[in-house]
Amino acid sequence: MNIASLALRLRKRIATPIQIRALLKHENQDVQLLGRALEAMRSRRFSPEEQARISAIEARRAALCASQEIVQVEDFGAGGPADTLTTSAQQTGRTVAEVVGDSCRNYSKPPQWAALLFHLVRQFQPGTCIELGTCLGISAAYEGAALALNGRGRLVTMEGCKAFAAIAAETVAGLGLSPQVSIVAGPFHHTLGRTLGELGRVDYAFIDGHHDEEATVRYFEQLLPSLGERAVLVFDDIQWSPGMRRAWATVCRHPRVAVAVDLRTVGVCLTGVGAKLRRTVVME
Ligand SMILES: C[S@@+](CC[C@H](N)C(=O)[O-])C[C@H]1O[C@@H](n2cnc3c(N)ncnc32)[C@H](O)[C@@H]1O
Repeated sequence: MNIASLALRLRKRIATPIQIRALLKHENQDVQLLGRALEAMRSRRFSPEEQARISAIEARRAALCASQEIVQVEDFGAGGPADTLTTSAQQTGRTVAEVVGDSCRNYSKPPQWAALLFHLVRQFQPGTCIELGTCLGISAAYEGAALALNGRGRLVTMEGCKAFAAIAAETVAGLGLSPQVSIVAGPFHHTLGRTLGELGRVDYAFIDGHHDEEATVRYFEQLLPSLGERAVLVFDDIQWSPGMRRAWATVCRHPRVAVAVDLRTVGVCLTGVGAKLRRTVVME
C-alpha cells in the first residue's frame, strides 16, 4: 500500500478508524506502531496496570488545577498567537504572576492528547526521550509512566520557568517516576545544546514549548544530529499561528522526516522508515 493513499481529509477531531486501519495494514512496521498508538488513543483503551498509572496522574492534575498558589512565571515563549516578539525579547523573557490552577488548565496537555504521548512511548519503546516544555509535569508524567511500564528508557524534560520546574519535580517524585524522568530548568537556548550533548542518541522528542516559527525550526535542526535512525518526533500546536503552520511545513519537507502525520492539534513525525514513504498524512 502506498502511504499517499492514506492521505484522507476527513473532518474528525482525531484519526478516523478507516485511517487508522490503513496505518495498521501498512507494510512498514513503524507505520503500524503509529497506527496502534492512534488506535489505543482513540479507543481510550488501557490495561489495568496502565489505568492505575493514568488515574494517579489525573489525580495529580486535579490537585494542581484546584491550586490557588500564585507563582512567578518566567516566560521565554512566543506570547500569544498574534504576538510578534523578537527572538531577543523572547530570550530575555518576561515575568508574570500566575495562579497554578490556571496554568494547569491552560498549558497541560488534556488527557486524550497526553494519552497519545503515552501510547507512542509504549509502542515505540524509546531508550532516550526529550521533552521541551515541562510546565507542571503532566505530559512528562504520562511519558515517564509509559517508560516505567516498558521497563526501560529515560526522559529528560526541559522547562524555562523555575517555579514550574519545582512543581514538576514534585509531580514526578509523587508519582514514583524519579528513576525515569529528570528535569532541566532554564531557557532552551541555554539548556538544549548541553542536554543533547549529554544524552547522546535521542529516540523520542516532544516539542511543546515556545510556539514560535523560527524557534521551533531551530530546535528541530538542533535535535536532528542527535536523532536515532528510527526516532519519533511530536510537535504540539502545529496550527496555533501562521508561523507554527509554516514551521510544521518546514519539518514535513525535511529529508530526514519519512512520515508526518498531521492530527491538526499535534503533528507526529517518524524518521528512518525509508525515503519512499516521504509523505504527509493529514488526519483530523
Ligand atoms: C504548553 S507548556 C508545556 C505543557 C506540558 N508539556 C504538559 O503538557 O504538561 C509550555 C512550557 O514551555 C515553557 N517554555 C516556553 N518557551 C520556553 C523557552 N524558550 N525555554 C524554556 N521553556 C520554555 C513554558 O514555560 C511552559 O511551561
